[in-house]
Order: sequence, then structure tokens, then C-alpha cells
Amino acid sequence: MPKAELHVHIEGTLEPELSFALAQKNGVSLSAETPEQMIAAYNFHDLPSFLDIYYAGMSVLIEEEDFYALTMAYFEKAAAQHIVYVELFFDPQAHTSRGVAFDTVIEGIYRAQQDANTKLGVQSNLILCFLRDMSADSAMKHLLMAEPHLSKLIGVGLDSDEHNNPPSKFAEVFAKAREWGLKLTMHCDVNQHNTLEHIRQVLEDIDVDRIDHGVNILASDALCDLVKQKNIGLTICPVSNQFVVQSLTSTEIKTMLERGLMPTINSDDPSYFRAYLNKNLIALQQEGGFSQEELSTLVANSFKASWLTSTEKDQYL
Ligand code: ADE
Ligand code: ZN
Repeated sequence: MPKAELHVHIEGTLEPELSFALAQKNGVSLSAETPEQMIAAYNFHDLPSFLDIYYAGMSVLIEEEDFYALTMAYFEKAAAQHIVYVELFFDPQAHTSRGVAFDTVIEGIYRAQQDANTKLGVQSNLILCFLRDMSADSAMKHLLMAEPHLSKLIGVGLDSDEHNNPPSKFAEVFAKAREWGLKLTMHCDVNQHNTLEHIRQVLEDIDVDRIDHGVNILASDALCDLVKQKNIGLTICPVSNQFVVQSLTSTEIKTMLERGLMPTINSDDPSYFRAYLNKNLIALQQEGGFSQEELSTLVANSFKASWLTSTEKDQYL
């Protein structure tokens, strides 16, 4: 069935084969000798151990054409799984901090988005993610770098290491992005320190238009009521959750459906977690015994929780 994906980091789609090709082209050395060796070294067990490998992997992305190739490769995979609409994250600070220009990154991604639309029939919009373990000042500088490219963006997000980096740290940056007409989302990763306070901040203080992950919301009736009242979606990433908290969170997703929340299913960093969207849906079905109807609701939720206009949504629903 036609599907949408709302939580996928373009850098998390970098497949080992493309890494090797880009490393050779750009003269970058890699610690693994083969793609299989690289995959064998993916031993993450929590968010920081994943993030170390994720950031190290980006060293091969240097030229605009590298970002184009990365993005196009994801869209080809998406098209093969009948994903027709994507809201795509990118992490510019992880590239500017290595000396790669903001414009190089966004131009390569944007060109692939245009080609995917015309050649593969996959429509997409781009979300600029700030790294929460960097300063608010750095986030603001990157928002300002994005100003000439505003028409290429639909929203801003917040990712990376949540520990001691609460949503409130970025209140000013997100307020400015809102002023510019951008949509807002933030990661509230599973089982983080102060998770309920972080979820409260994103809903009440930042006033986001969506929450990434947010599984722990179920521990608070008041926050569940608030997210329902705002009618915003939660982008859940089952296989990613299995890596970082050793659970696909299928029970929690079922409870969300029963309580009338709007969970959506996503792949997060599918190359590192070795599971694109379909595998996430299949794993969930196998572990949680989800009915056809529940799976259809989850798929429809991704269009409903997207930032397409209501006329655009009607085209898919
Ligand atoms: N960056 C890429 N994937 C992420 C995740 N699952 N959580 C936080 N930051 C990320
Ligand atoms: Zn994520």
C-alpha cells in the first residue's frame, strides 16, 4: 500500500557500499575493509553508542554530488517499498563542523528531492535538524544560514544526545523558526533522563507540531490528553527502539492506538538499524500481532500527521 515516512535521517540511510565508493572517490580512509566488516562493527546498545558510529560514518560525505547520491539512493529504496511521501531530516551541523559548507549539503539533497519527484514519483519535504548537544548559539547560526534556502524547508527538528540537553535550551531558535513559517518537531527519545519533563516542554513551551519518538508519553494521562487535544502525531521507530531500549515498543504502539493517539511507523536510521520502513512494519506485525486494520490505521496516520496541506493529504487518504 502507498506509505509515507516522517522520521528518517538522510545520514542514517548511508549504506556501507556507498560509503566505500565515496571513501575511494574522496580519498577518505575507513576503519573497516569490507561492507560486511563495517556492518559487523555496528554494536550499539544505547543512543550515545549509536551516535558515535553515525557521526563517524559521515566522513565520506564531502561534495554536493555525495549528498545527491546519498539522498537519491534512499529515494530509490523508498520507491521500491511504495513510499510515496517523505519528510526527511538532515543534520547540517554534523557537516559544517567538518568543513563542508551548508549550501553544499542542502543543494545536493534538494536536487535529489526534485529528481525523485519527477523520476520516481516520490514527493518529499526537508526538515533541518539541530544537534542538541551543540550550543543554542550554533543552532541559531545554522537557522540563519538556512534563510536563503527557506523555500526548500518545511520545518526544523532537534536530534542527537538528549542527556542534559532539554528542549527549553532551544526555545529562542524554535520561536524564530516558527516566525518564519516553519513547522516544529523535536526528538523525545525513549527512556531518556527527564523524559516526561522534556515531553511537557515540547508540547507546552515550544508548542511543536509533532513529536519524534515520545513513547514515554503513556506514563502521563495529562500529556496524553494534551497531545490528543493538539491532534499531533508521534513518529515511532520500532527497530531503532529495539537497538536503543531492546524493545520494538509494540505494546506501547497498541496502547497508543487504543487511547486515540496518532502513532506513525518510521525507520529512523535504516542503514544502521538494517531495516527500512517495510521491515519495521513486518517486525511489528510479527511481535505484536497487529491486525490488518491496525496496520492500515498506522499507515494512514503517517499521511494525517504529515505537514502536507489538507488538499495534498486528500490525494493520499
Ligand atoms: N540522530 C539520528 N538518529 C537519531 C536518534 N534516533 N535519536 C537522536 N538523534 C539521532
Ligand atoms: Zn531520529
